[in-house]
Amino acid sequence: MMKNINIGVIGVGVVGTSVIKILQENKEIISARAGANVVVKKGVIRNLSKARDVNIPLSDNIDEIFKDDEIDIVIELMGGVEEAYEIAKKALQNKKALITANKAMLAYHRYDLQKIAKDIPIGFEASVCGGIPIIKALKDGLGANHILALKGILNGTSNYILTQMIQENQDFNDALSQAQKLGYAEADPSLDINGIDAGHKLLILASLAYGIDAKPQDIIIEGIESINSDDIEFANEFGYSIKLLGIAKKEGNEVELRVHPTMINKNQMIAKVEGVMNGISVIGDRVGETLYYGAGAGGDATASAVISDIIEIIRGKSSLMLGFENSPHTPLSLKSKDSIKSHYYIRLLAIDKPGVLAQIASIMSKNNISISAFLQKESKQKNSAKILFATHVTTEYAIKNTITEIKKLDSILQEPYIIRIEDE
Ligand SMILES: NC(=O)c1ccc[n+]([C@@H]2O[C@H](COP(=O)([O-])OP(=O)(O)OC[C@H]3O[C@@H](n4cnc5c(N)ncnc54)[C@H](OP(=O)(O)O)[C@@H]3O)[C@@H](O)[C@H]2O)c1
Repeated sequence: MMKNINIGVIGVGVVGTSVIKILQENKEIISARAGANVVVKKGVIRNLSKARDVNIPLSDNIDEIFKDDEIDIVIELMGGVEEAYEIAKKALQNKKALITANKAMLAYHRYDLQKIAKDIPIGFEASVCGGIPIIKALKDGLGANHILALKGILNGTSNYILTQMIQENQDFNDALSQAQKLGYAEADPSLDINGIDAGHKLLILASLAYGIDAKPQDIIIEGIESINSDDIEFANEFGYSIKLLGIAKKEGNEVELRVHPTMINKNQMIAKVEGVMNGISVIGDRVGETLYYGAGAGGDATASAVISDIIEIIRGKSSLMLGFENSPHTPLSLKSKDSIKSHYYIRLLAIDKPGVLAQIASIMSKNNISISAFLQKESKQKNSAKILFATHVTTEYAIKNTITEIKKLDSILQEPYIIRIEDE
């Protein structure tokens, strides 16, 4: 007879409910794969009087899970950062394996948890791109490789909004309300559209790929809120699509990490990832480019990843949380934001009078920036023109200085806007 493995689920919301249902509905295949019966012994929630779609014992007292010696695995699906971290810590201190889908908590505390866990398994496949097994790919499948680069569409909501703006000519606000109507965006979608959610995920992937312990404030994170139809037209004109990308690149012993809207060549595979889908390209030094595509969020896709961790833990196959022994991996450091290099697209709104372009060109030349493409368009605003251009490769430092100086010109009518261009 198969043994029982008991789990406690903290948080029975969208993901927790899906985990419980899939464990019941796909019970046979899951126990055949795990070699044990997975029993949900208890679920913990805040509000016991809320109607639930699950049939398991529920409590509003988390300690019941920690004190129950029969519970082998704790699954944290409540969200938040510090409270969730305290709970994850408590699970490990009580010698229970831990599974979490909480990318926000891991963005800050993954190294703290790894230290506390020692040989207690931690699964977090669900924290990045739910349905795509990218954590296992980086930890195990690509284990022989130095990861040269990783580029990912890591947030489905923002990808949906950009797809609507590009394909349906919707403006940002209309595309966002449609995403909310369809249930893709939260009531408060700020973390999706300001790039922070994708930033959390990139930091987790960077730990697996490079062993880099960076926090959100250490890297460039920008969202899609300021993109407009001029940017989309310019991108289209020069053969680009615009995607919110998480980018990691290794050069020597340095790694650059950044999340921002990016113009990428329309022919790249990742440019074809549309709607709410997620996609990641990973380049290993031995394997070359590998691509991963699938649903990034949603109850069932995320629960599918949680359950894959349950199976792995039961089989005793789990490896070190972040995939690295403490030694002798060559230490890599995070590249400073200012020294990151890119091509840039710049959008300006300026008074339409002689000499303005010359002033802008002179500031750019002073900062050693040269222009590779240029478009001037009429503006609805009287006596003004939209000036759109792309630059050859330069540094964040040079572009920041250039924008600061351009902003000071009397002829500039609006905050300049930049989008980075990935030409490789
Ligand atoms: N939804 C997705 O598609 C998705 C995808 C990837 C990752 N995730 C991550 O998965 C986690 C859960 O997301 P979700 O969408 O399932 O959230 P959710 O629907 O808001 O559910 C959260 C659950 O946690 C419970 N909870 C919150 N604070 C608690 C506390 N202090 N003590 C006990 N229970 C508490 C809530 O209880 P009540 O029901 O009583 O309010 C609710 O059952 C988050 O970390 C999220 O980032 C979600």
